[in-house]
Amino acid sequence: MNTKPLTPRDITAMKGREKIACLTAYDFRTARLLDDAGIPLLLVGDSVGTTLLGFDNTLPVTLDDMIRHTAAVVRGARRALVVVDMPFMTYQASIEQALLNSGRVLRETGCQAVKIEGGDFRAPCIAALVQNGIPVLAHIGLTPQSVQTLGMRVQGRGDEAARRLVADARAVEAAGAFAVVLEAVPAALGAEVAAAVQIPVIGIGAGPGCDGQILVINDLLGLSGDFQPKFVKRYADLGPQIAAAAAAYQTDVQSGAFPDPEHSYE
Ligand code: KIV
Repeated sequence: MNTKPLTPRDITAMKGREKIACLTAYDFRTARLLDDAGIPLLLVGDSVGTTLLGFDNTLPVTLDDMIRHTAAVVRGARRALVVVDMPFMTYQASIEQALLNSGRVLRETGCQAVKIEGGDFRAPCIAALVQNGIPVLAHIGLTPQSVQTLGMRVQGRGDEAARRLVADARAVEAAGAFAVVLEAVPAALGAEVAAAVQIPVIGIGAGPGCDGQILVINDLLGLSGDFQPKFVKRYADLGPQIAAAAAAYQTDVQSGAFPDPEHSYE
């Protein structure tokens, strides 16, 4: 496999040539494993708030949280493009705020791009970032940072809502985004949006017609508890395996079976 680090331009060029399999990552070791597996884009999602930090939603995540986790992922990724999710209220207040915070994240972590939520109304912010040298992955459809106004439900149902989503995708493309995440829309609309723009549409709960897919790594590995959105496919069930390993360890410690001579210094 070609090991040259991928750029936003490379991801854009994958549209129509191969389906793009993206995952979230939050730490060095996982990033190295996913990179070795050939995943081309690692998103340090603000889902770190729910997956690792135990919050109910992503709103409490701070820029410092993201910088810490992104720097670890950058150290783990040798080929994958690393994108940082800008957390709630680090880019919404003004374009100046978006530029200063995104610039800080790129400078302090070494990641190559930022992700920000919002469609048509966010286009001026995306354009300013791109014009100032900061590649942007856009995010439309269900946008989790708007949980208090939109909720966490499927978007784009009905003709008018679908038309607005296609317009959102076109607007972020025109503003210069190198790709766009499309979350939680009917599959037919996912395919329609992908056909409407030249940049890759990376779906999450947006059906097979998208140019690529992204999943939260903890969901894929079976590490996110009992709640599972319909669009998640578990490729492993590590939760019960971790619990069984911990229980076996406890039994061995209590019985004296661990540590044995093999795991002790002479
Ligand atoms: O934060 C995140 O993990 C995301 C993905 C679900 C796209 O935004």
